[in-house]
Amino acid sequence: MPKSAFYLVSQPQITADVLNLSQPTQRRSGVTLTARRYSAQKPSSCKRFVHSQYTVIQTITICVGQCGLQVGLDFWTALAKEYGISVKDGKQATNSLTTALPPAAFFHYGKHTDGSRKYVPRAILLDLEPGVLADNKETLGFMNPANIVTGEHFDAALDEETKAAGAGNNWAHGFTKAPHVRSRRVRGESVMQIVKREVSHTNRLDSFLVVHSVAGGTGSGMGSWVIEQLRLSYPSTSIATVSVFPNASDVTVQPYNMLLTLRRLISHTDAAIIVSNENIDGILQRQAAPAKGRQRFDNDVILRVMLGWTAAIRTPTQRSAVSELIRMMRGPRSVNLFCPSCAPVRNPRIIRAKALMASFVDSNGYLVADNQLALPRGSPGDDLSKSNKIITALTVFQNTTESVEAVEAAVGAVRPAFAPWAIPMWKHIQTASSRSPKPPSASAVTVVSCSGMAHVLRKVEGAVSRMLSGRSLEQMTTEQLKKVPFMDTYLQALGAPECLDQFQEAYTVLTGAIELYTQAAHARP
Ligand code: GTP
Repeated sequence: MPKSAFYLVSQPQITADVLNLSQPTQRRSGVTLTARRYSAQKPSSCKRFVHSQYTVIQTITICVGQCGLQVGLDFWTALAKEYGISVKDGKQATNSLTTALPPAAFFHYGKHTDGSRKYVPRAILLDLEPGVLADNKETLGFMNPANIVTGEHFDAALDEETKAAGAGNNWAHGFTKAPHVRSRRVRGESVMQIVKREVSHTNRLDSFLVVHSVAGGTGSGMGSWVIEQLRLSYPSTSIATVSVFPNASDVTVQPYNMLLTLRRLISHTDAAIIVSNENIDGILQRQAAPAKGRQRFDNDVILRVMLGWTAAIRTPTQRSAVSELIRMMRGPRSVNLFCPSCAPVRNPRIIRAKALMASFVDSNGYLVADNQLALPRGSPGDDLSKSNKIITALTVFQNTTESVEAVEAAVGAVRPAFAPWAIPMWKHIQTASSRSPKPPSASAVTVVSCSGMAHVLRKVEGAVSRMLSGRSLEQMTTEQLKKVPFMDTYLQALGAPECLDQFQEAYTVLTGAIELYTQAAHARP
């Protein structure tokens, strides 16, 4: 097939189910999707499969709040660079390295008045304060201005005082203001009308990707509202998130914000990829890197996770879809919270698939703690990593110059500690194409669902419990809730009965998830 033919897909086509292991083995150079089933036998039973069709199915990315916007804009800037697109006007440079069409999964295109193509991200940018967007005017050049909400325009239902306040690190403010906020350009348009319009520009909507932090008010509260509304309006469309967890000391009320947001991540998303600033900062500290520019580093690592995870969607010969990645990540399990890790974390250099895998799984089959972007490390000597059992795992390799067989052997060489009841499969995707003129650096991103997630959730439960001075949320009355520290703004914004409901429901969902992940290490859930 001529290379250009890869891009000439005018009608959406349904891809083969990548998890169908009975499919005949096919190979196309440089691109494979592989599932490895671990068993007592040698890995010869492994089957390999690739897409039989190219797909044009689209993902709409929604960036919410300061963190969501900063991380999201980095992502879009990286995509623009990858395809030689100017972030100022969406024009593509015409030199030979950048003539590939950007993936329609992420961009739609129009025309400039001079007839040149203009690539527009399928992105919606939401914040209740205009600061980040004002600071990034240049990067916004290729965004659709009608898809930007800055918290400057609201519908008439909101009183002046409420309009002025932003979200102030308060989930309840973000959640209650979200339905009233309006687009910057088309002032009448609500967030969900923007989403509906953006959906109308897709011919086969695959998924939504929400990027946000769970600690501040907008990313958590408005992010929760958006996730809830997406699930209501598009029940069969996949929802994935990149959810940034905070450092312990970032925001006083972050345990409340995290609890309320986790309810939506657990109940309404298909996959929430959790990245913790604390973990990333820990990696930086262990490498004795200077504290200056840490947030920059945090975002670089998060960007690496996002680019690695979506590589199969962008690789010209592959053109996978977010929903397929989610299917591979989840397998037949109902788990939807994922811990990522990437390799190499710093100082990218060319290393082999075997070395990449060794930075994810150690020789005893345990996940390498140093490299975890969501799981707590545990104190030295405790057996956190030993008790951590893997439920599902997916590695996406990028730019490995090794053969398909070598990469497959590298994945096969590790013996991960799977939960006793889990289907022992470490899936992987190998994307080989590089658009860079330099020799490509090999890298990989792994996302796992594992029983260790219970520790992440327990940390949130513990922080909430400390805020409540040990009082039980389940037994609490509205009168008692009113006496809880820092609860007044939540009560004001939501009203007392709704506030109590929100907290109690969220607590039930959180403790249910803790139970699920805890049991995952031992028994069939
Ligand atoms: P409000 O400020 O209340 O309107 O909410 P918001 O969602 O805009 O707040 P923000 O996104 O700043 O959330 C606060 C949390 O996000 C804190 O834990 C910050 O450390 C983290 N954060 C903010 N910006 C960034 C960023 O660019 N990168 C990373 N990794 N974390 C960020």
